[in-house]
Amino acid sequence: MKILSIESSCDETAAAVTEDGHKVLSNIIASQIDIHAEFGGVVPEVAARSHIEVIIPVIEQALREASCTWDDIDAIAVTRGPGLIGSLLIGTLTAQTLAQILNKPLIGVNHIIAHAFASEFTDTPPEFPILALTVSGGHTALTVYQEDLSAKIVGETQDDAAGEAYDKVAKLLGLPYPGGPAIDKVAVDGDELAYKFPHARMKNPLDFSFSGLKTAVLRQVQQITGVNPGDLSIPKSYELEPQVLANIAASFQKTVVDTLVKNTVLAAEQFSPASIVVGGGVAANKRLRSELSAALPEAIFVPPVLCTDNAAMIGAIAFQMQKRGITTPPLQLQADSSLEIL
Ligand code: KG4
Ligand code: ZN
Repeated sequence: MKILSIESSCDETAAAVTEDGHKVLSNIIASQIDIHAEFGGVVPEVAARSHIEVIIPVIEQALREASCTWDDIDAIAVTRGPGLIGSLLIGTLTAQTLAQILNKPLIGVNHIIAHAFASEFTDTPPEFPILALTVSGGHTALTVYQEDLSAKIVGETQDDAAGEAYDKVAKLLGLPYPGGPAIDKVAVDGDELAYKFPHARMKNPLDFSFSGLKTAVLRQVQQITGVNPGDLSIPKSYELEPQVLANIAASFQKTVVDTLVKNTVLAAEQFSPASIVVGGGVAANKRLRSELSAALPEAIFVPPVLCTDNAAMIGAIAFQMQKRGITTPPLQLQADSSLEIL
């Protein structure tokens, strides 16, 4: 069963060919990071235009690298949400058109669920029920998936996503976009105990909150530099000495990672899943991977290259859906910018 999958929910145009949901035959990603970096974040109109320019060449390359022709493809899958609506529409319209013309089944996928199922591409694919920690730029959630793919969110962020916190803190520390990898890198040389940032206390102990942490970092940086003390309204970058920068980055990262690990351990105790998986852009973080695998040795981590947005992960969940007969008539598929996990 070969699936051609397409992902265009944000700032990556991606296409992949996967086999039986477990093998990546090709995984092409045209990143727009350089285009958006000068704006310090993703500009939706620019993203959509860029998807239009590259989506066909990206699909062609995915087929070529998988040594496939259209005849070899059994189904087409596409991200239908959540994401930027202009970006999503380029992917869904392309997939719908291809499925209709080529008379192939079409599978519309939830991007967040796909992040967790990228764990299918490991030596130990997960078994149901699965507890997933999904940590990305737009979402941070603990979800339990059952055999029939029904899902229950058992904990989620009440404000910023973990990746969003990384990106915002990186910006105020004068680090480049995207902030996660930049903080991950400078934190290596930092003392993570140099600053003590607060952990949010939540009514549901499995929930997350990162917006207060971001403000605490801002206050600390203002105190160190003496610039704009107390003014939390201006999104600004501050200049710090390299060692101070590293210490702040490491202390911030420790706070985020500690919270993610604590909640995942708690959820694992509460739900006794058969497998625990960790995916999404922030799951590429070295510190999170080492801390979480120390606390939960059985946790299955999505391979780092498949943590950030890609189309292979769309193929993984699409295979599971197709196996259970979940497909959509091509002309009925709808992009949904705020698609929920249900
Ligand atoms: O999953 P993803 O590619 O896109 C969304 O679906 O949001 O995640 C992107 C997020 C960004 O916020 C980025 O800063 C973060 O993942 N990220 C990281 C790392 N690599 C990417 N955060 C922490 N450490 C990393 N190594
Ligand atoms: Zn994503």
